[in-house]
Amino acid sequence: MKGNDMAGKTSKKKTVAEKSKKVVKTAAKTAKPRAKTVDSGIRPAAPKAYAAVAVKDSRNGKGFELPILKGTVGPDVVDIRKLYGEQGLFTYDPGYGSTGSTQSAITYIDGDVGILTHRGYKIEDLAENSDFMEVCYLLLEGELPTAKQKAEFEKNITYHTMLHEQIARFFSGFRRDAHPMAVMVGVVGALSAFYHDSTDIHDPRQRMIASHRLIAKVPTIAAMAYKYSVGQPFVYPQNNLSYAENFLRMTFAVPAEEYKIDPVVAAAMDKIFILHADHEQNASTSTVRMAGSSGANPFACIAAGIACLWGPAHGGANEAVLKMLAEIGHKDNIKEYIGKVKSKQDNTRLMGFGHRVYKNYDPRASVMRKSCHEVLDALGKRNDPVLELAMELEKIALSDDYFISHKLYPNVDFYSGIILQAIGFPTSMFTVLFAVARTVGWVAQWKEMIEDPTQRIGRPRQLYTGYGERPYVPINKRK
Ligand code: CMC
Repeated sequence: MKGNDMAGKTSKKKTVAEKSKKVVKTAAKTAKPRAKTVDSGIRPAAPKAYAAVAVKDSRNGKGFELPILKGTVGPDVVDIRKLYGEQGLFTYDPGYGSTGSTQSAITYIDGDVGILTHRGYKIEDLAENSDFMEVCYLLLEGELPTAKQKAEFEKNITYHTMLHEQIARFFSGFRRDAHPMAVMVGVVGALSAFYHDSTDIHDPRQRMIASHRLIAKVPTIAAMAYKYSVGQPFVYPQNNLSYAENFLRMTFAVPAEEYKIDPVVAAAMDKIFILHADHEQNASTSTVRMAGSSGANPFACIAAGIACLWGPAHGGANEAVLKMLAEIGHKDNIKEYIGKVKSKQDNTRLMGFGHRVYKNYDPRASVMRKSCHEVLDALGKRNDPVLELAMELEKIALSDDYFISHKLYPNVDFYSGIILQAIGFPTSMFTVLFAVARTVGWVAQWKEMIEDPTQRIGRPRQLYTGYGERPYVPINKRK
């Protein structure tokens, strides 16, 4: 208990990382911080207009221009911030397919070619050479840590892994059969009632402590949610273990036996955490930013992100993949199932396929596919019928016209579910593991937002399609 937190393409061309550095320097010189909010110097640049689109309003023949802003890489954006004020028009983009909600210097995705970088570093390089703690530091601090910085960061996270003992009592308030994601939403939200010394979001030190607490405590809560569901005693964190090892031990160890950590499993767990750490402005991250834009408590904001992640179109997909494979049951039934998907019968979708952003192979999926085979080999589960079924499904889907023409490739969740099942996690824990890994991304994005001088409360507009004003009808006259 002592020392634990109990209170509360290289060529002449510049690489993405080099470009980002230059932009960050410019930002540090020009941007004005808001009162009280001291920034860490890694906030995104304030982009400048360099061109414009000319728009003609066909209702009155009036023309106007909208500035075009350039990011470091990726498509330019049309700046519509003054559109309503100057033209009395809103934009309409349900699902935000063409709308940038923020500027950000954390993660870049080019879905057409299948590129994902964090702070300029390719996800494949990070998965191959880094560990999760290093990726957490990179996301939060903007640079890869030196050996000293890494040791310090790991110590900070390690010493925040324990929970206030009263939090443990929250669990008994949940039904034994509660979905662990329901428990996660409740208990992570409840952290806001315990750690009052890390909730002044305008104080950089408090922001950092809240960030460390979240990254450290979410795995403890996740493991406790699992233990509660199977009726086993909670296992406390152990400071000499790595993040992934500690999580495996808290999840699978029992007091009656010694728990031996399989290094292949721990390495695969760490890789799963790296591959899920951040994914720019997806639904749950946007939820965290939206919640945080009102100045809300950081623990409550992350609970909001967990709630959003739960859905099957987002983090719930890895669980849905396993359910789908169980429903298909046998290789012989794949054709029939694909037929159902193609005819859109009962809105059937091939779970673990397709992505809003990736219209090419998800780079995370390639790493996960390799890791999946390594884990299954190490655990002697290579001939696992579920994997065989999944591989056959992948082969058939990748050669089918429907999937090719719709640019539907396997995403990261297609393989992560298989690995997690092989390790021994029940399907209900899959999204929980996604939440554990994504906490750092949510926290980094939340922190970036708070430090962005252009930040305002999130408040979208709408295209109203309801009744116009009408007279009130008294109850005795209603039909
Ligand atoms: N199976 C079959 N058809 C699909 C699928 C799928 N998995 N995904 C999209 N389509 C079809 C869809 O029916 C539509 O066809 P059409 O143009 O003929 O009407 C077309 O592709 C475009 O679909 P959409 O729903 O407009 O695409 P979207 O970008 O809104 O949806 C998605 C993205 C991830 C929600 C969707 O691909 C999906 O439901 N996939 C299955 C769930 C899944 O694996 N989700 C995990 C995403 S990765 C984890 C994460 O980042 O959260």
